[in-house]
Amino acid sequence: MTTHTLTHDRRIALLAGIVLTMVLVAVLSLAVGCSPKASTEAPAKSEQNSASSMDGQPVNWTIQSDCATCHTSEAASPQDAACVQAVAHEAEGVTCAQCHTDESTLSTSHTSVKFGDKPATKPTVVTVDEQTCVSCHGSMQDMAAKTVDSKALTDDNGVTVNPHERPAGQAHEDNPATCTDCHNNHSKAVEKDAMKYCAQCHHRGTFQCGTCHELRERSTK
Ligand code: HEC
Ligand code: HEC
Ligand code: HEC
Ligand code: HEC
Ligand code: HEC
Ligand code: HEC
Repeated sequence: MTTHTLTHDRRIALLAGIVLTMVLVAVLSLAVGCSPKASTEAPAKSEQNSASSMDGQPVNWTIQSDCATCHTSEAASPQDAACVQAVAHEAEGVTCAQCHTDESTLSTSHTSVKFGDKPATKPTVVTVDEQTCVSCHGSMQDMAAKTVDSKALTDDNGVTVNPHERPAGQAHEDNPATCTDCHNNHSKAVEKDAMKYCAQCHHRGTFQCGTCHELRERSTK
């Protein structure tokens, strides 16, 4: 009787151990989930372990494919509270293909993809149509009205600019911004992403131009 109870207790202890390990693994894989900018980091354990008999086989990609099988990091972003955009859109039930609407570009990106290939963690092509964002959120002007008090874009001199409304000027008019210039659904840092966009032209920590040297072009790509 006593031996029986002991074995039983051990089994419970062992089970508890297994469950704890599973929870830990789940928590750890979530922690690395939302990190589109952390391309230099080692791949997540869950990705390394995903080797299967399908590896190396060609993928017959269609817009109906289950994106989450391969794009584990983007699929995990709605579970990371720091990814506020992904969290908000998951709550609205917005699917991958609802935003990534450029099927022909996506199809080209996936032509030579094989099962087990590691997808890029930074976008190299834009496959999200601005109209998709606008259809739910309204135009850039509508957005500007919402962010009049935003301090997200502040330079080293304390000059603040509304992210959705830059001051008038030839360079800005010649280079209109689109939603995806700053917004990556899977990013934790829209402010940083937006500042990077401005820094294509503005540098030395200031939004000014023509004060240190004559106006000259910086390559925007
Ligand atoms: C079988 C694995 C697999 C599936 C399923 C898959 N992808 Fe991909 N995807 C990849 C790989 C690998 C790449 C990288 C291709 C390259 O860089 O040449 C990629 C590239 C991309 C890119 C371009 C990233 C860039 O470089 O800008 C997007 C966007 C994307 N996939 C979205 C999707 C969407 C949306 C779905 C579902 C409809 C999907 N993928 C399904 C493996 C997959
Ligand atoms: C609310 C719109 C939205 C939803 C929903 C969404 N994405 Fe994205 N995604 C974006 C935007 C915006 C970018 C950055 C610009 C671009 O690549 O076009 C992006 C970037 C990506 C990239 C490029 C690599 C990276 O991480 O930056 C991949 C791959 C991707 N998304 C896959 C997915 C998958 C898989 C899903 C579903 C699990 C999904 N996306 C859901 C908007 C969305
Ligand atoms: C199907 C409708 C829909 C689509 C498509 C959509 N959104 Fe949203 N988005 C929402 C809703 C609803 C919310 C939550 C309420 C709000 O903040 O406006 C939201 C929230 C957001 C937020 C605020 C997140 C926060 O809480 O700080 C940002 C930023 C955003 N969306 C940007 C975008 C961009 C950029 C695109 C296109 C890549 C896009 N959305 C596509 C419906 C949508
Ligand atoms: C394509 C290059 C380019 C990009 C991208 C750009 N700017 Fe500019 N910006 C300029 C140039 C050039 C000027 C000088 C006026 C002109 O000729 O348009 C300027 C002028 C300004 C000014 C007025 C400066 C002054 O001296 O009064 C502010 C403020 C500013 N930009 C902020 C921003 C912010 C914030 C962003 C990002 C959201 C941004 N700009 C993105 C090129 C750019
Ligand atoms: C120059 C970069 C930039 C561009 C372009 C841009 N955004 Fe934003 N957006 C931001 C930043 C930065 C914030 C965060 C502002 C803050 O929280 O202070 C933001 C905030 C938002 C929000 C949340 C607003 C709220 O209620 O707080 C939504 C929704 C949004 N953007 C949608 C869009 C849409 C749709 C487009 C395209 C029509 C767009 N954005 C274009 C940088 C940009
Ligand atoms: C705070 C001072 C300052 C302001 C304001 C400034 N620059 Fe510069 N810029 C420099 C310095 C310093 C250098 C390096 C020495 C040189 O080439 O004159 C430089 C170099 C450059 C170069 C050549 C090398 C490179 O980094 O690409 C370009 C192009 C340039 N600036 C464009 C711009 C543009 C466009 C603006 C406005 C959007 C601007 N600068 C505003 C200080 C400034």
